[in-house]
Amino acid sequence: MTTKATNIHFHEGDITREERWGSLNTTGCTLWFTGLSASGKSTIACALEQVLVQRKVHCFRLDGDNIRMGLNNNLGFSAEDRAENIRRIGEVSKLFADSGCVTLSSFISPYTKDRDAARKFHEDAGLKFFEVFVDASLEVCEQRDPKGLYKKARAGEIKGFTGIDDPYEAPTNAELILKPGDDPLEDCVVQCVEFLEKQGIVPAE
Ligand code: ADX
Repeated sequence: MTTKATNIHFHEGDITREERWGSLNTTGCTLWFTGLSASGKSTIACALEQVLVQRKVHCFRLDGDNIRMGLNNNLGFSAEDRAENIRRIGEVSKLFADSGCVTLSSFISPYTKDRDAARKFHEDAGLKFFEVFVDASLEVCEQRDPKGLYKKARAGEIKGFTGIDDPYEAPTNAELILKPGDDPLEDCVVQCVEFLEKQGIVPAE
């Protein structure tokens, strides 16, 4: 997206990122959870958040349903609106990461192009972006159906539901793949924590 406003100038601050993160003893990054509705993205992010907070790691969760009630309450589920949803959250995640936060962003984010754009916002700013594919099959998600949305979509009461009559493009270059259909929640969380330790984001215990 191009910038609409003219006569604007980026204003650099006087504090470097290193100074900020050093004073907070933190390392910002974004962990981007993508997967079908009911795949377990939010559940894993919530459980991971608990572990990180216990370890005194500065973190924050951004979640699809929640953000759609506020910042993105003017967006629906057309391809264009989903792209705008992910663009805004990609930018917000970047800002959180820059502030030193371990940002846990859970969005279906069905289109590769939109996820890659969110990755690029981070990389262009020298920030780490890790894509986590929450790889639960449609069968598993549909069987869980905690909000009854798959049932509605099958009945034709929701149009353009991801996985039913709207696409989900699975990542091919995710840094981490979780299998919540096979592995218990605790194992998925351990895999995230070990990954963050390996990346030097979270100090090993
Ligand atoms: S995204 O596709 O734009 O990334 P997002 O993660 O913000 O989606 O929101 C997904 C949530 O919205 C789902 O978990 C579900 O609760 C709800 N939802 C409502 N309608 C749809 C739909 N047509 N497709 C997918 N999710 C929907």
